[in-house]
This record gives sequence, C-alpha cells and structure tokens, in this order.
Amino acid sequence: MLNGSEIEKQLNLADEKINVQVLKSVSSTNDVVKEMFIENSEKVSLAATNKQTAGRGRGGKSFYSDLDKGLYFSFAFQPKETALENLPLYTIAAATALVQILENYVNHPVSIKWVNDIFYQGRKVSGILSETITEPASNAIKGIIIGIGINFAGDFASADHNAQEVAGTLFGKKVPDNFNQNLFLAEFLERFFDIHEHIEEKNFMTIYRDHLLGMNKEVHYTVAGNQRVGIIRGIDEHGFLLIETPDNKIEKLYGQEIHFGSSQFLDF
Ligand code: BTN
Repeated sequence: MLNGSEIEKQLNLADEKINVQVLKSVSSTNDVVKEMFIENSEKVSLAATNKQTAGRGRGGKSFYSDLDKGLYFSFAFQPKETALENLPLYTIAAATALVQILENYVNHPVSIKWVNDIFYQGRKVSGILSETITEPASNAIKGIIIGIGINFAGDFASADHNAQEVAGTLFGKKVPDNFNQNLFLAEFLERFFDIHEHIEEKNFMTIYRDHLLGMNKEVHYTVAGNQRVGIIRGIDEHGFLLIETPDNKIEKLYGQEIHFGSSQFLDF
C-alpha cells in the first residue's frame, strides 16, 4: 500500500525537506503537486497515487493510469538550473535515475526511447511528463514538476488502442511478493536528487546515452509534418537528439513536433 509516512521514513535526502501527499485516486498528480508547491516552495512536494482519472502524457495525449499495479507520482522542486536551453536536462535526469533504479528490480536491461519513454522488453513501461511553474508577473521559472507513471503489473484490456499497441509492464501480471512501492519511490527520489545536486556537471548524461534505444540505427521521424529518415547518433549537452541525415549532416531534434512511431523500437 502506498503510504506517505512510510515513503518519508525510507527517504534520506541530503539537502531537501519534503511534503508528501498520497491520494486514493486523483485526476492528475501533476496538478496536485503544483498546488502543493505554490503553497510551500521551500520544500520538495510529492503527490502519489495508484489511480489517476485524467493522467496526461506529452503532446496532449492521455496516459493510461488505472492499471492493476500502476504507480503515478509527481514531484516539484526549485531547480538549480533555470536557463531555458537546459530545461530538457530535468527530463533526462529523471529518466536516468529511473532506469538505474528500475534495473535493480528486473532481470533484463531497461532502455530509454528519447526523450521520456522507458522501455522494457520492447514495450513502454513508463513515461515522464515535465512541466514548469512560473512566476505570473515575471514569467521566471520557480519550480519544475516531474510526473512519472510506471506500469508495474497488470493488463491493458480496458486501456485505449494506443496504450494497448505499445504499453507493457515490468513484472508481467503480478508484482513480486516482496516489492515495496514506498521503498521504490524513496530510492528513486534519492537517486534523482543526487543527480540534481551536480546537474551542471552533466555526468549522468553518459548513463542516459548508454540506455538510449536506437543508437546508430535508422529512424523515421516527422518534423512539422514532413517525413524524414536518419541515424540516431546520441544526444548533445542540452539533451537534444542528434540525427545524422542522409547527406551526412547532424540535425538536432527537440520539441513536440517530433514523433517516432514506437513500433520502430520493438526490434531493437
Ligand atoms: C508520456 O508518456 O508522454 C508521459 C506520461 C506521464 C504520466 C505521469 S503519471 C503521473 C503524472 N501525472 C500525469 O497526469 N502525468 C504524469
């Protein structure tokens, strides 16, 4: 059972204090955590649930959030680095921490489909949605929200067509008897804030690159409605995806307009 005081008990953050809310069911934990952070931005805010009624993904898509064993959580914090070009680093840092912790629980490698999808054995098992909280008057960035949904176990029989096509689980139909989601959350947050403390050094990006799906493979993608093809060559220091085009130039990709068909990644 998700339990706020259990999470706090397991959690050992070096410099941060945390406010935790565990909810039975909620529309989106990203919205809850935003309110919590606006109320008290001195502490990290964490909202977690096992059921969302309006889970959101990137690009306005919905995120199936009613799995038998699914964990949906968001946390908000004051970022060390607020330069706009470095904001993608937060998604990259969260994905890095996530694959590292998830790999302690499963037998096969966990991979990242750039930029925010976590894959296990050819299926998407987790997604990350990062948002900013800005000061209304100045538009300055006050906080970063990272929202994460994880499919631990269950099936997608009542999910929408898109989820059924690509989604999978880490543990199959049932979580291992000794699996403790409170401990998992605490381990993830510790790892994330460990990375955050030295985010400007960018050391974690090597781990992200090592987990990137499709490295040196051909990929089809769409930019502003145009179909293109190229070879994935990694990410640059800001988290942009580097694609080598057929005329041997490097194209840098970032933003909502880029879409990879997930089926391209099933064979990797
Ligand atoms: C994606 O796959 O595009 C991102 C999915 C992010 C889902 C998580 S679940 C917790 C948090 N609340 C939301 O509404 N979305 C994020």
